[in-house]
Amino acid sequence: MEKRDKIFLAAPFHDYMNGESGRMNQKHIELVTKVLDYLRSKGYEVHNAHEREKWGEDWYSPEQCTPIDLEKIKDSSILVAFPGNPPSGGVHIELGWASALEKRIILLLEESGTYSNLVLGLNTVSRVQTVRYKNIDDVLPQLELCLQDKSAQRILAVSDFYDKMSASYDSFMEEGESTLEDEVNLVLQTFTQPCRILDVGCGTGRIAIPLQDKGYAVTGIDVSHGMTQQAKRKGLRNALQANLEGFNHSETFDGVVSLHVGFSYTNDADKMFKMLQVVYGLLGTSGKVLWDSPNKHFYGEKKVLEWPTENGIVRTACYGHDAERIREMFMETGFSIQNIWGSYTPLTKYKKESPRIIIEAVKG
Ligand SMILES: C[S@@+](CC[C@H](N)C(=O)[O-])C[C@H]1O[C@@H](n2cnc3c(N)ncnc32)[C@H](O)[C@@H]1O
Repeated sequence: MEKRDKIFLAAPFHDYMNGESGRMNQKHIELVTKVLDYLRSKGYEVHNAHEREKWGEDWYSPEQCTPIDLEKIKDSSILVAFPGNPPSGGVHIELGWASALEKRIILLLEESGTYSNLVLGLNTVSRVQTVRYKNIDDVLPQLELCLQDKSAQRILAVSDFYDKMSASYDSFMEEGESTLEDEVNLVLQTFTQPCRILDVGCGTGRIAIPLQDKGYAVTGIDVSHGMTQQAKRKGLRNALQANLEGFNHSETFDGVVSLHVGFSYTNDADKMFKMLQVVYGLLGTSGKVLWDSPNKHFYGEKKVLEWPTENGIVRTACYGHDAERIREMFMETGFSIQNIWGSYTPLTKYKKESPRIIIEAVKG
């Protein structure tokens, strides 16, 4: 049998207990057993606290069960959860852990049940599939469909995501909220020629090529091989596959642009500082940067970015940010902020409801 994912099956415990017998209600033992048997029959390795604690007869203390459950969720790739109706506090904590650990989640929700907004909205920040059931017999066939949906299994690293969608990337951007003309115009008004520009996350050269055509000396770097190949194919002369985080160059640049990239793919403060320090080091005296990240007040703090390809849907994680936090990071790195723009089309100054945080800053 092929190697299968490990699954953690979460369900209410305390609410399923029969106070007199000190054991779970028979109905709920059968429910959990049915799902466990089904998952094991499909070859999954499953962990479940009810079974571990002998359906309540071997009840673990909070100090015993909490670290074990967290470790088991860390070790699993999928959390299958009955959040409970009324809600189970324990399962809600497990859902929070699984979401923060970027695990795949399958929610089993009763059609007549009432669930909290944060459970119903979990799919906006994590890989969540939902089974809605009237009778427990409806659960297993739907659970099978969810488990077979291979496309839901993985959030790709940003380089893999863009490798897989590089062929159709330009059409994806055509549907965006800003026009290429307005994006390029902002770069033109920020950097006067002659000017050597580094385009960080140049993608297919959408921005870099029009700048090159206007006479700018442009070098594009991108962590995705597929994207740099597309950029070269379209005519970008200097396109390198490289991650900004470890990038160095023999000469400095007059300007760094990173449009629709910036901090889009990380929310890790150490990485963000590192990226700004690299940009700072790549710029010559009075060099300028145009650094564009999504605004969390418009976009949310984390989103799963999806794109259909010939081989199924691909997904990667994307992060919204706080303008004040980014502004402080730039200043701590040694930049002076000149403008914070909020959108390209039309070009507007940043306000809380703006889609973008586009920092225009100068070294020193
Ligand atoms: C949404 S695309 C933007 C491409 C281009 N700037 C544009 O506006 O069309 C984001 C690109 O950033 C690249 N990228 C993300 N993080 C990167 C990093 N740390 N270093 C280099 N490229 C990165 C991705 O591979 C992807 O091609």
